[in-house]
Amino acid sequence: MTDRAGKTLGFDPIRTGRHPRIRLLIVDDNRSVLRSLDGVLRDEGCLVDTAASAEEGLRLVDRTRYDAIFLDVWLPGMDGIDALKRIRARRPRQYVIMVSGHGTIETAVQATKLGAYDFIEKPLARDQVLLVLDHALKQKRLETENRSLKDLIRQETVMIGTSVPMQALRQQIEFAAPTEGRVVIYGENGTGKELVARLLHLNSTRREGPFVEVNCAAIPDDLIESELFGSVKGGFTGSTENRKGRFELADGGTLFLDEVADMSLKTQARVLRVLEDQRFYPVGSQRPTEVDARVLAATNKDLEKEIETGRFREDLFFRLNVIPFEVPPLRERREDIPQLLDYFMELLSPHHGKPGKVIPPEVRDRLLRYRWPGNVRELRNMVERWIIMVPGGRVELSDLPRSILDGAGASRPEARSWQEARAAFESDFLTRKLQEYGGNISRTATEIGMERSHLHRKLKAYGISGGASRGKRGGRQQSVVKVPRAPRPFLRPPDKAR
Ligand SMILES: Nc1ncnc2c1ncn2[C@@H]1O[C@H](COP(=O)(O)OP(=O)(O)OP(=O)(O)O)[C@@H](O)[C@H]1O
Ligand SMILES: [Mg+2]
Repeated sequence: MTDRAGKTLGFDPIRTGRHPRIRLLIVDDNRSVLRSLDGVLRDEGCLVDTAASAEEGLRLVDRTRYDAIFLDVWLPGMDGIDALKRIRARRPRQYVIMVSGHGTIETAVQATKLGAYDFIEKPLARDQVLLVLDHALKQKRLETENRSLKDLIRQETVMIGTSVPMQALRQQIEFAAPTEGRVVIYGENGTGKELVARLLHLNSTRREGPFVEVNCAAIPDDLIESELFGSVKGGFTGSTENRKGRFELADGGTLFLDEVADMSLKTQARVLRVLEDQRFYPVGSQRPTEVDARVLAATNKDLEKEIETGRFREDLFFRLNVIPFEVPPLRERREDIPQLLDYFMELLSPHHGKPGKVIPPEVRDRLLRYRWPGNVRELRNMVERWIIMVPGGRVELSDLPRSILDGAGASRPEARSWQEARAAFESDFLTRKLQEYGGNISRTATEIGMERSHLHRKLKAYGISGGASRGKRGGRQQSVVKVPRAPRPFLRPPDKAR
């Protein structure tokens, strides 16, 4: 498609005829307009239907999905405005371009307020028709892409798991999300820290705003400041234009500082200033920029240890760590494994255009006993591999990775002595019982017939604590959230969480 100057426009869906599936409808009672417009659009490779009245046009709209409709304002019988209202009622996202004759331009303008995409005036100029159509199709494509991306994000932002620690985590999210509280999310690799951050955003009042992620470990140290704060033209060698930093991009939304412990001390100092002042200077700029972004952070390191060894600023820790979250490793919530297996099978098989596969009990049994050092990500990757690589409709034991088979299902290395074996058994048994009784130590002690103080000592010796209340990391500023007794469904009711 070309504009008036004959220059080729960026998006060219029609002209080349390589997109023959663009379907258009023209509604006009003037035969010569109908014929010439029809000719122009067919020349561009579009499929075109025509109607000489609004009534006939509406009948076609009921039968066919059009990419865009050219609709005359003045029509005998039902007029263009009425027809527009009815079309929009049937197909709220339908692109309609009003065609106005002499004296109906006011009405055409009014139609755009009723949801028409644009209007063009008679006599129709070929270039103008194509230009407006080009813009409409571009816009439509962007909207469709945007919608499907949002769907994808929402679809993938589901937290599966009904184990006690996951119920506790859900409740923490429910409490913290609508606030402006800063959160640090702790957890091993692949446990779901980023997922928690996204849920905090999606359940906050900022959900319509942006969610901007910064992986502090992945950005080279000499670039991180301009990445975070942006830069002005000439602000540093090689910067040829003004660039917005991630802080500014997150304005009105959430900024997620992932792997926060990997930030250099110098960058930590700058981030601290921003959190204190709520404003910053882009690299090379004398003028401060103000931002309104909620900051969430995540790490797989123990920040207190990092502080002790001088690698993390204590003042920044206190600024960030208002509400500490801990995402438990998968081996501490094994009862979630079957649900996760089914969920990823259902989620990922359509992505690869394949039917889901049956996971038989003997395979599930092995997976339940495995240690999952890579946590949920490891499980997800394994299911994805099965979907692509396993030929039949069923996963066999021989399809399991060596790491799982070699471990003969054991969740820890073979004990070398009676003492070690007993410790392993006690630790597993107490962990499971404590989870079973909602992290309540007194109740667990009664149920298993053990003195409360004795149980307490054992738990301490094995480093076990009740459900989510394991975080010594949170203890520095406040006590962590207790395991809830009566779980409430959140985000996805447990019965549907599969
Ligand atoms: N409870 C869960 N339910 C459903 N999907 C989950 C769950 N936990 C994690 N996932 C999925 O597992 C993958 C890894 O999770 P995520 O990236 O959030 O982990 P992470 O803790 O940030 O990992 P890393 O430390 O390696 O960055 C993602 O695809 C995520 O959607
Ligand atoms: Mg992550």
